[in-house]
Amino acid sequence: MIVCMASGNGSNFEAIVNAGVKIDLLVTNNPKARVIDRALNLQVPYVVSKEEYEFCIPKSTKLVILAGFMKILSKEFVDEFSIVNTHPSLLPSFRGMHAIRQSFEAGVKITGLTIHWVDQGVDTGPIIAQVPCRIFPKDTEDTIRQKIKKLEHVAYPEAIKGLLNE
Ligand code: GRF
Repeated sequence: MIVCMASGNGSNFEAIVNAGVKIDLLVTNNPKARVIDRALNLQVPYVVSKEEYEFCIPKSTKLVILAGFMKILSKEFVDEFSIVNTHPSLLPSFRGMHAIRQSFEAGVKITGLTIHWVDQGVDTGPIIAQVPCRIFPKDTEDTIRQKIKKLEHVAYPEAIKGLLNE
């Protein structure tokens, strides 16, 4: 069983499904998340749980895919499942919630995305793949966010397919 967890927009969730990865279940903690509409359109079963989301993951789950999931997971959960995430910076730089703003404010000329295993820390797990993204003088926080998303929509499904074929 492959489960995706998302809290918001869900564009990565959609890209993963459209790339042919069979997501058996979407779990969200946010009843207003746009990802719910996407799940309905893509005919992926979903469950909403504001607090008990960890208990919605079946024991038989082979891979948990985080796609903009905004809650910190418990140690027990992280120990039990294989969990993958995509983060919008070149880790270990700019961990945490505001990676794109921090990259922009730091004035770095190259940023990117990191696909990584999830461990107990915040954005500290072993790195699976990285894709760079250049920042030009005309870029804003918003254009960087858009460029990274576009790259994620290709790289994240590919990385997941690779993990599932291992
Ligand atoms: C992605 O940009 C990812 O890097 C971060 O959360 C964002 C989710 O975007 N972890 P979306 O909901 O898939 O559009």
